[in-house]
Amino acid sequence: MILDEQGLDEETVAAGLNSLLERDITYFSGHPIASMSTIPHRLGAEVFSKTIERNAGRLYTFKGSANIEQEVIEMIGDLLYLEAPFGTTSSGGTESNILAMLAMRESKKKIKKPEVIAPKTVHSSIDKAAWILGIKLIKTGIDKEFKASIRPIEKRISKNTVGIIATAGTTYLGQIDPIEKIGKIAIENKIPMHVDAAFGGFVIPFLNDLGLGSHSFDFEVRGVTSVSIDPHKMGLAPIPVGCLLFRSKRHLKVVTMKTPYLPGASSKQSSILGTRPAASVLATWAIMKHLGRVGYREMVRECMNRTQLGQERVEDNPLLKLAIEPVMNILGIESIEVPLDTIVMEMEKRGWRMATSPLPPSLRLVVMPHVSTGAMNAFFNDLNEVSTTVPAD
Ligand SMILES: Cc1ncc(COP(=O)(O)O)c(C=O)c1O
Repeated sequence: MILDEQGLDEETVAAGLNSLLERDITYFSGHPIASMSTIPHRLGAEVFSKTIERNAGRLYTFKGSANIEQEVIEMIGDLLYLEAPFGTTSSGGTESNILAMLAMRESKKKIKKPEVIAPKTVHSSIDKAAWILGIKLIKTGIDKEFKASIRPIEKRISKNTVGIIATAGTTYLGQIDPIEKIGKIAIENKIPMHVDAAFGGFVIPFLNDLGLGSHSFDFEVRGVTSVSIDPHKMGLAPIPVGCLLFRSKRHLKVVTMKTPYLPGASSKQSSILGTRPAASVLATWAIMKHLGRVGYREMVRECMNRTQLGQERVEDNPLLKLAIEPVMNILGIESIEVPLDTIVMEMEKRGWRMATSPLPPSLRLVVMPHVSTGAMNAFFNDLNEVSTTVPAD
């Protein structure tokens, strides 16, 4: 591909683009069945498209956007039981987790060989963060429900430990680690604790409201020092927007850098990115204001109804098995006879966009708002055929 000397007219460009985009499998088809993003809320998409030039890395210029970012942080703090949150929006769970681990390292600067303890079900962004930050990541065991085991965490605490991480809504199964018990260990040992609620943050509070769970996973738990939560997952916001909240100002301060050439509010940045879109943050504000708790609760209720449907469809098929009783809108499906790779290949041929998890080896179904009842039924009709057809050698 070359950069043409003479530009093409708009119609030709649009036609070329559209013909390439036809290859994308969009959420509207319901076929991406293992994605943690979804079709953004219509109002959010509108706000996003009208504010694309606003730069959240220039909050001195975009003062209104700065106020709105702060209000998003406060609303999310309210959701997560933190009255006075200190935090930043980010590009998503990966950036938030990197910043949380940076805060751990920097708040214990005297430790020259920093170690972070995390159950082996943590998202790969934790490994990435450890790699970037030069932190030794100690992975600990899990129980038969795929939740963090407590004893191995206690046993691995050393003079080099700068933090402990747990997940509220694991990527593989949507499981919630025993946050309260881990929080106690963090307090006893005076170690920061980060909860990765990138996915679960916009789900668990509403599961609790709906009587579909009773999980303390956020700042309600005393030992928790930071939480990451992604509006661009179950918050229904357009990509990219994550959020990282700290309980104490000190932790935000240690990840804040001066940008000497910029004035006022722009002269300090807590995010890794410099120039970054404010549009998705503004869209988050609009969606949160518009939906309120009632709107999110309804969305979670609908996703859980379809998760229940999926659970029943698995239980009806003797050749499939659920890895765990679903905790949130994620199903881990094990195949008893046909190898997983074969199932994935056959399902992909039928247009589904699949993902597998290693722990345990299973298909991963994320019942996002775009995965309609029709899509669920079509998926399980195909899965029934594929899971019972043992390939010839
Ligand atoms: C639990 C968890 N944390 C972090 C991430 C990373 O989020 P992002 O892809 O927005 O960087 C994910 C992504 O799926 C996740 O499931």
